[in-house]
Amino acid sequence: MALLEVKNVKKIYTTRFGGSQVEALRNVSFSVEPGEYVAIMGESGSGKTTLLNILAGLDRPTAGRVYLKGNDLARVKEKEMAAFRRQNLGFVFQDFNLLDTFSLRDNIFLPLVLSGKKYPEMECRLEPVAAKLGIAGILGKYPYEVSGGQKQRAAVARAVITRPQLILADEPTGALDSRASDELLRMFAQLNRDGQTILMVTHSVKAASTAGRVLFIKDGEVFHQLYRGSLANEQLYQKISDTLTVLATGGERR
Ligand SMILES: Nc1ncnc2c1ncn2[C@@H]1O[C@H](COP(=O)(O)OP(=O)(O)OP(=O)(O)O)[C@@H](O)[C@H]1O
Ligand SMILES: [Mg+2]
Repeated sequence: MALLEVKNVKKIYTTRFGGSQVEALRNVSFSVEPGEYVAIMGESGSGKTTLLNILAGLDRPTAGRVYLKGNDLARVKEKEMAAFRRQNLGFVFQDFNLLDTFSLRDNIFLPLVLSGKKYPEMECRLEPVAAKLGIAGILGKYPYEVSGGQKQRAAVARAVITRPQLILADEPTGALDSRASDELLRMFAQLNRDGQTILMVTHSVKAASTAGRVLFIKDGEVFHQLYRGSLANEQLYQKISDTLTVLATGGERR
């Protein structure tokens, strides 16, 4: 069974005054198998964040369905949604969303605290994650005391510590310099090799070229998909660049 199934999702935003409508997603359908690493690309305003918000249950589609492990998100009650999200999904936000009044350790523990885990179990879970991400030595520090790359790693730790079915990342390299960005991409690749399913929105061709599949969104629909197959990152990079050129020049769907 697909881990994630998106069926004919449509999203129309209606502005509060004047009632003008924006069709952010026209008709999006795709699915993600367990263990896949999928990148989503598309011009600014093409609906990528809208899509992620819907997949995360932070927003409801105007039409269409989203299934996570066969569960229809529309059937999850509003008051159960937060718990559902915590149990199934991990997020990495573009701006990390770490709380400045909490140490990195407490930031990472937060989703576990919210789901009522005991302290020894939290410690047990943290140890391998922190070691893998190279932040074991700075867990007592506060977000404002560490670098952007270190904050990013803490944000990744917070996303994976609940052992989510699916990681959703919205431009996770957007705020990073090239070194920290490379590091994050290596980390994602490693997590994926260990079996973690990842869905990452990105503007960066380099970031997308580390994924196993790239979805291109245009005019609120999936315009094209590229599969890595046996391609090396550099070859996939070239194919992505070519596709973006076709997209930007309004070429025919392939
Ligand atoms: N809350 C909202 N109310 C009304 N319109 C919205 C809202 N959020 C997004 N939109 C509109 O929906 C469209 C898609 O926006 P979205 O944020 O999903 O794009 P995006 O692909 O993530 O862009 P970017 O790459 O710049 O982050 C845009 O036209 C945007 O202006
Ligand atoms: Mg966006």
